[in-house]
Amino acid sequence: MGKIVILTGAGISAESGLGTFRDEGGLWSQHRIEDVATPEGFARDPALVHGFYNARRIQAAKAQPNAAHLALARLQRDFPSEVVIVTQNVDNLHEAGGAENVLHMHGTLAGALCATCDHRWTAPPEMSVGEVCPACTAPSARPDVVWFGEMPYHMDLIYDHLAGATVFASIGTSGQVYPAAAFVHEAALAGARTVELNLDPSDGASRYDEVILGPATQIVPQWVDGLLTHS
Ligand code: APR
Repeated sequence: MGKIVILTGAGISAESGLGTFRDEGGLWSQHRIEDVATPEGFARDPALVHGFYNARRIQAAKAQPNAAHLALARLQRDFPSEVVIVTQNVDNLHEAGGAENVLHMHGTLAGALCATCDHRWTAPPEMSVGEVCPACTAPSARPDVVWFGEMPYHMDLIYDHLAGATVFASIGTSGQVYPAAAFVHEAALAGARTVELNLDPSDGASRYDEVILGPATQIVPQWVDGLLTHS
C-alpha cells in the first residue's frame, strides 16, 4: 500500500465544538464572506476582520482534538507508508491530536502576517487594528489566513503528494471551495482509490470510489482501524 493523502475540512473539527461554514447556522450564515474573508474586506474594516478571527482564535484555543483527529495521528504513526494530512482548517487540532507535518493550505489562526513585508510570526490571542509588524514596524499585521482571491499555501507540494497517492480521503468538507475540491480529480488521475468520509454527501460525492457517511468521531476511527488491519 503506498502513500495515503488526506484532505480535511471544518467537519472534522465540528465535534470539538468549532463551527463549520455552510451547515445550518454556520459561520457564513453569521458573517458575509466578502466582509471577513477577503483582502478587500480587511482593507474596508480591519476591526471587523480582526474581531472575527480573534473570536475564532480564542474558541479554537479552548477546543480539544476529537477521536477523528486522534485516529489520523494514529494512522500517521502506525501505517507502514507515508500518510500526508492536508487541511483547509485554520485550527491546530490535528497537531494537538498528535499529527505531524500538517499542510495548512488556508493558513492558521496561530499565525500573523505582515501585509507590507510578508514577515510571519506567532499571533497574539487577540490582534488589533494598526498592530505593528515586529520586522518592518509597519502597522499592517493581519491574520495569516488565506482569504478568497488569495493563493492557498503549499500547492506545489500538495499536487506532488496527490500524484503519488494510492489512497485519497476527503474528511469533513463540503467540496465547494477550489482548489481543494478538485484534489479528488487529481488523485483519481494518479490512479488512487478515493473515499469521502462526511456527515452528509458533499457536492462532489459522486466523484469518489467510496462514500462513508456519519459523524467523523465514529467513521474516521473505524476507517483507520480497517486500513491498519489490512496494512
Ligand atoms: N462529521 C463529519 N462531517 C461533518 C460533521 C461531522 N460531525 N459536521 C459537519 N460535517 C460536514 C458537513 O456535512 C459539510 O459537508 O463537514 C462539511 C463542512 O463543510 P463547510 O462548512 O463548507 O466547510 P469546509 O468544506 O471545510 O469549507 C472549505 O471554505 O469558507 C472556506 O476557508 C473556508 O476552509 C474553508 C473552506
